[in-house]
Amino acid sequence: MTATPAHTPVLLFEVLENLVLPPAARILDLTLGLGGHAEALLARCDADSRYLGVDRDPEARALAQARLGSDARLTILASTYEEVWQDPAFESWHALQAPGGFDAILMDLGVSTLQLKSPERGFSFRDDGPLDMRMDTEAGPTAREWIAEQTDATLADAIYQFGEERASRPIARAILRALEQGVLNTTADLADAVHSVLPMTAALRRQHRADTATRTFQAIRIAVNGELVGLASTIEQAIQHLRREGRMAVISFHSLEDRIAKQTLRRLAGIYDGPGREAPAPLPKVVRLVHAGGIAPSDAECQSNPPSRSARLRVAERL
Ligand SMILES: C[S@@+](CC[C@H](N)C(=O)[O-])C[C@H]1O[C@@H](n2cnc3c(N)ncnc32)[C@H](O)[C@@H]1O
Repeated sequence: MTATPAHTPVLLFEVLENLVLPPAARILDLTLGLGGHAEALLARCDADSRYLGVDRDPEARALAQARLGSDARLTILASTYEEVWQDPAFESWHALQAPGGFDAILMDLGVSTLQLKSPERGFSFRDDGPLDMRMDTEAGPTAREWIAEQTDATLADAIYQFGEERASRPIARAILRALEQGVLNTTADLADAVHSVLPMTAALRRQHRADTATRTFQAIRIAVNGELVGLASTIEQAIQHLRREGRMAVISFHSLEDRIAKQTLRRLAGIYDGPGREAPAPLPKVVRLVHAGGIAPSDAECQSNPPSRSARLRVAERL
């Protein structure tokens, strides 16, 4: 197992400011990760509080357990946030510890530092590793296996849809060509295939521009982990599990996630975005939006933790 990498929870101050923690608070963290937010939230809770942390990544759970496991208020559950609601372990914890609902629910979406910075997990093009990218290392196809199931068209669609990459078609062809030639086994191989279409030139490097493979890596990671599939329904479920005046905080890292979080919370707030817009019709009003827009990290946070730049926090309060 990798040693715990240095980890800075994103938008921590803003999360602490927006989640209201009464005495004997009941908190549900649907993306426990390395427990960075959990540690800070628990530090603000009294001895009668209870914290349920869910994560699909066995390595993250083990590291969070090693870091916070001595805190008897914390329970860690192996599940996905889409499926947890039907998990008997969740149902019994909920019935016993939080029958009236949760005071605070947190979703901090996307990959963790642990996943990104461990080459053997295969998320990064900076360090070579196997082409894996699974958040749950015990389930589902690896990125290489997933790519092998694609056609030119389906791979290009995924790269376009989840990476917003305009060169998706030639990139998809280059990736599948590399696969056919037996030279698509590692993250460096995938980056090479993308760079054969979009070269990472010396000029781009000098300008400190993002690697041209970034969007394709994001797209394949989202597809492999089905990251957007259950997001809207999970937010709806989570809101149903809040007690009155309980709050939910959602942190997203890219526009696709943020769009789903925004639209879902607006629908639950009874806001109709009008015909012709992508948003489906509103639901009965069950929340109020605590802020009209998304909260971005401060300049200081962007400077001290550059990956936080794209993060957005949205907060809703149950009526
Ligand atoms: C950005 S990290 C969370 C970091 C955490 N807030 C902290 O401070 O350490 C996101 C975590 O969510 C987990 N995750 C992503 N999708 C998930 C899903 N569908 N179900 C459960 N966990 C998921 C990932 O495995 C990862 O550990």
